[in-house]
Amino acid sequence: MKRHQHRPETEAVRGAADLSKKNGPVSTPIYQTSTFEVTDNEQQLRATSTDMFYTRYGNPTHTVVEAAIAELEGTDQARLFASGMNAITTSILALLKSGDHIVAQRDIYGGSTKFFSQWLPKLGIETTFVDTTEYQQHARAIRPNTRLLYLESPTNPTLRVVDLRHLGGLAKKHNLIAFIDSTFGTPINQRPADLGIDLIMHSGTKYFSGHADLICGIVAGRRDLIQKIHETRTTLGGVMDPHAAWLLLRGMKTLAVRMQRHNENALRIARFLAEHPKVRRVHYPFLEDHPQRALAMEQMHGGGGVLSFEIDGSGEDARRLAEALRLFILAPSLGGVDSLVCIPVLTSHAMISTEHRKSMGVTDQMIRLSVGIENADDLIADLEQAFAAVGSAAQHAQVR
Ligand SMILES: Cc1ncc(COP(=O)(O)O)c(C=O)c1O
Repeated sequence: MKRHQHRPETEAVRGAADLSKKNGPVSTPIYQTSTFEVTDNEQQLRATSTDMFYTRYGNPTHTVVEAAIAELEGTDQARLFASGMNAITTSILALLKSGDHIVAQRDIYGGSTKFFSQWLPKLGIETTFVDTTEYQQHARAIRPNTRLLYLESPTNPTLRVVDLRHLGGLAKKHNLIAFIDSTFGTPINQRPADLGIDLIMHSGTKYFSGHADLICGIVAGRRDLIQKIHETRTTLGGVMDPHAAWLLLRGMKTLAVRMQRHNENALRIARFLAEHPKVRRVHYPFLEDHPQRALAMEQMHGGGGVLSFEIDGSGEDARRLAEALRLFILAPSLGGVDSLVCIPVLTSHAMISTEHRKSMGVTDQMIRLSVGIENADDLIADLEQAFAAVGSAAQHAQVR
């Protein structure tokens, strides 16, 4: 954990800026180039370890964004990747080898589950999935060959919260790398490095970018770990395009203000849904009856912009409700300024087995909302009209 010089709102805007510099552009230049010219081969040799050699190895625009992210997370370094999945797969391949073992929470993003359960075994790397909030299970699953503790908090789409200080301590005790997918948290709502987590990953596609206009992955953490990950990234090749990296930096400048609005809007909508007669259960970390609310309030500054809920009805009813919404756009993904709605069994968790989904608590009746930054009253009115439309269609069908 590094000492923060400024508060998160300031770091999001001015992170990585040289505050003593008085000349030059205010907006970071885009080095839209694949390669860099040198004067002679002596310089060529020296260039290989810099960000002015070849863009698969690094690029000055990436360097600014990576430094800004490291500052915001309070870590030594950070790296950008072509996607969130690419950040996860490259990091795991960089740090683990055949014969190693991972302990992972049971409810995590479906793509990560698929990588751990279907791809890593081909390379001789085994994963034990444990109940997300039963920490005794995490401890019991650790073996002599365990190398990494894989966490996600809050979880997609069940919005469970795990005790990062406790699990960071467990990892340290057993000499494991503590790795978290902090996509739902963002560094505005939680800073895992301050709680003892070694590596922090984000799908930058979501809140960091904030406008549903690019795909990106982020890993931030200790220098020695990031160096290994960097070397693997240059081999596997999952880098971002410089222009997309610049868009990401632009998105980051409004991350703090966007998160504040996401937090407020999502809490209001969660409370509205919790009172609705057609809703069986609402999952949102800051909602009064969330099982880990006290922990969430202690380790997070806000509950984030994503919530899920289960309707009192069938999977078919859930699909109809999602289709009846007008302001909420029917699309996968999350974290942008526009509100989105999706059915997790058809999107984020479609690629894993029904049994695994059931064990996570992802049901056919579950609807996930990514609450944007629109006016919350308008969003609530949209939900009201959708419930009414679906209700009257059901009544009509009964009468016929
Ligand atoms: C929590 C979480 N982690 C990782 C990913 C993968 O990110 P990407 O789509 O940028 O590869 C996603 C994507 O939805 C996600 O929701």
